[in-house]
Amino acid sequence: MEALTPKDQFLQSLDRCMEQEGFIPAFYDRFLSTSAEIRDKFHNTDFEQQNKMLLRSLRLAAGATAGDPESLRELRERARTHDRNHLNIEARLYDIWLEAVIETVQEFDEEWNEAVENTWRTILGYVISYMVKRY
Ligand code: HEM
Repeated sequence: MEALTPKDQFLQSLDRCMEQEGFIPAFYDRFLSTSAEIRDKFHNTDFEQQNKMLLRSLRLAAGATAGDPESLRELRERARTHDRNHLNIEARLYDIWLEAVIETVQEFDEEWNEAVENTWRTILGYVISYMVKRY
């Protein structure tokens, strides 16, 4: 079997999740159920929009990790909208976000295994540490 780059392994796993109905809503159900604090952050949010947003964020993470300049530019902008002066997303909220993503992908990706999990953690860990540093 051909070795996939981490980016491709990540995107293929994401595609397998997206083929199943309900992947994105399942993430938000899980994430929002973790605390009132998280729900409050989204009190003004239109979830129709937000559903597309998660998918964009995940693709952005893959692109930025691979060094794609357009993705890096957008990541810098996202770090700004999430910093203490804007959405005010503290580091510990990213940990909760990460675990909600991982648990949801584990539920939906039929080819989930340790290697796939490591790839998700590496790629999301990269963008999270970037955003947290700029908090
Ligand atoms: C690496 C992780 C994350 C990425 C890549 C990401 C990405 C994005 C993007 C692309 C948007 C839409 C554009 C914008 O408003 O900036 C957004 C909005 C938002 N994000 Fe994140 N996000 C991440 C983590 C989080 C976490 C942990 C929270 C915690 C609660 C959060 C809360 C929000 C909120 C409240 C909005 C605004 C939603 C609205 O438009 O009403 N994000 N995020």
